[in-house]
Amino acid sequence: MESTVKFFVALAVMCLGIPSVLTRLPMNMGQFIRAVQQIEDAHPRLTALHVVRSLRRQGGYDDPFTEHFLKASNDSSDYNASMPNPELSQFIRHAVHHKVTEKGREKGMVLCGDGTTVALGPVLLGIEAGLLAGTGIPSESLGVLTLAQTLGYSFLKSPYQKLGPDGCWDNVTFPKVFTLSGRASFAPDALINGGMDGMLLGTHLSSLSSHAMRLSTVLNGYYRQDLKDTDVPPLLISAFRRDNFGNLVNISILQDQIWASLSVFWTLSGEWHRPLGMDSIIQMGLKHFSQRYIECPAIIPRCQWGARSYRGSPVQLKLPLSFMYIHHTLTPRQPCRSFQKCAAEMRAIQRFHKDDRSWDDIGYSFVMGSDGYLYEGRGWQWRGAHTRGHNSRGYGVAFIGDYNSTLPSRHSLRLVRERLANCGVGGGHLVSNFTWHGHRQLVNTPCPGEALYAEIQAWKGFRLRDISGGAVSQAELLKANQSDTVIIN
Ligand SMILES: *[C@@H]1O[C@H](CO)[C@@H](O)[C@H](O)[C@H]1NC(C)=O
Ligand SMILES: *[C@@H]1O[C@H](CO)[C@@H](O)[C@H](O)[C@H]1NC(C)=O
Ligand SMILES: *[C@@H]1O[C@H](CO)[C@@H](O)[C@H](O)[C@H]1NC(C)=O
Ligand SMILES: *[C@@H]1O[C@H](CO)[C@@H](O)[C@H](O)[C@H]1NC(C)=O
Ligand SMILES: *[C@@H]1O[C@H](CO)[C@@H](O)[C@H](O)[C@H]1NC(C)=O
Ligand SMILES: *[C@@H]1O[C@H](CO)[C@@H](O)[C@H](O)[C@H]1NC(C)=O
Ligand SMILES: *[C@@H]1O[C@H](CO)[C@@H](O)[C@H](O)[C@H]1NC(C)=O
Repeated sequence: MESTVKFFVALAVMCLGIPSVLTRLPMNMGQFIRAVQQIEDAHPRLTALHVVRSLRRQGGYDDPFTEHFLKASNDSSDYNASMPNPELSQFIRHAVHHKVTEKGREKGMVLCGDGTTVALGPVLLGIEAGLLAGTGIPSESLGVLTLAQTLGYSFLKSPYQKLGPDGCWDNVTFPKVFTLSGRASFAPDALINGGMDGMLLGTHLSSLSSHAMRLSTVLNGYYRQDLKDTDVPPLLISAFRRDNFGNLVNISILQDQIWASLSVFWTLSGEWHRPLGMDSIIQMGLKHFSQRYIECPAIIPRCQWGARSYRGSPVQLKLPLSFMYIHHTLTPRQPCRSFQKCAAEMRAIQRFHKDDRSWDDIGYSFVMGSDGYLYEGRGWQWRGAHTRGHNSRGYGVAFIGDYNSTLPSRHSLRLVRERLANCGVGGGHLVSNFTWHGHRQLVNTPCPGEALYAEIQAWKGFRLRDISGGAVSQAELLKANQSDTVIIN
């Protein structure tokens, strides 16, 4: 009798214990790495390969497809690290097992220190394939397991649905629940981010002669948070994910890897129906993939930096626009070098524009931090309030900081000058012969500072005068005064 009671008490504790760990631990990379360290500390003799394999299996990536591509002919060192405690094993399962629920929630991923979200499955698979390179696994394994299977499956199952979307965490200091910002494809952004990271880390590890490192050290190095001014790609950190991936990937090889993954998928699933036109679907899909994830820079969405909503109704721009106007924020003066700091600055700028200036929203279209990321202000679709009289004609892009006597980092400048601009043209938001201008050319202001203004004059497409011949007409100014907001920086 007593033992029955004990059993039920234990059962109740177990059941209650199950949600508790998931509410107690944040779903971020720091927490995941701490979990990896706990496993490493409990099994000091295990290699990185053992640990990554155990984590991957905990997360449910032990299906025949995965095993097919990881089967190392000579791998006799199969050993599973037992989890130090059930809580940890539950956390790992929850963090690694990827799925999208009916309610548009996505699971199996964590928020990284740089403000982006990665699915852990493809990261772990890439690391494992990299560590196994040269041991007899198929040469395409790394590409297939990180990205090609995700892309191939997505192109196969829903050929005309776009990739993505991104989404947002409920709370970026203590993330628990991630909600997608639109209808989920089979390749949401987190899976693609994880795939790129997995491919980058795996390629790096496969080139090392020794694998005597801890997995947590590899992850800590790649997902570190603060950027230094001198940091530039090809430094292997998550903030440079897209630059590094763009340099690494060869689309025609990725295309072969997609075919390799589809053919194994078809064989294993016994599915003999091969859709017609798959070749051109893959080509179109890859073109879209390159545009969205390689050409375009990553832009931290409003929900992720904690934006308040627009007051009233935003005005839709008539696209494509012809101008890019460069600003600096002046306040804050100091560049921000981490996601948490830049996001806080974005909230402060928005508060200033909305509450002190009584504008409807943050004025800028986009804002560039010194953390490797652009931040979404009013975005590509909506008219901003950045350049008096010109808000309907161009986008306003501000660099966070005071750039009268110093410049933003080379990397930040390049992201705006090349990637944001190409992305705007490729996406049909900007005409291909658009021109760059400094805020001061259009409005009586020292913005964007002497140094930054001197810098942009060397940019291809910089124009001293705008196309209307420089001076804007009186009528236009009057109209602008009524419809646009004024920025004085
Ligand atoms: C490790 O786990 C996998 C899957 O759970 C299993 O197939 C394998 O036999 C295990 N290996 C050892 C040595 O226990
Ligand atoms: C497998 O192991 C044997 C003996 O250790 C070695 O001679 C052989 O080259 C290995 N094969 C591969 C593919 O690594
Ligand atoms: C986010 O979580 C932290 C820690 O639990 C809490 O202090 C903070 O108030 C939360 N923020 C929001 C916006 O809920
Ligand atoms: C991509 O790989 C293919 C096949 O290996 C090669 O022919 C081609 O030159 C590569 N393309 C680039 C841009 O490196
Ligand atoms: C900006 O820099 C110039 C010199 O390049 C200097 O003359 C001017 O006073 C500076 N302006 C401010 C507001 O610091
Ligand atoms: C850009 O191209 C359009 C049409 O091709 C032309 O009308 C316009 O003047 C061009 N603008 C500049 C700045 O060259
Ligand atoms: C527009 O407003 C500014 C200041 O708010 C004023 O100096 C300027 O004269 C106005 N322009 C027109 C054309 O009304």
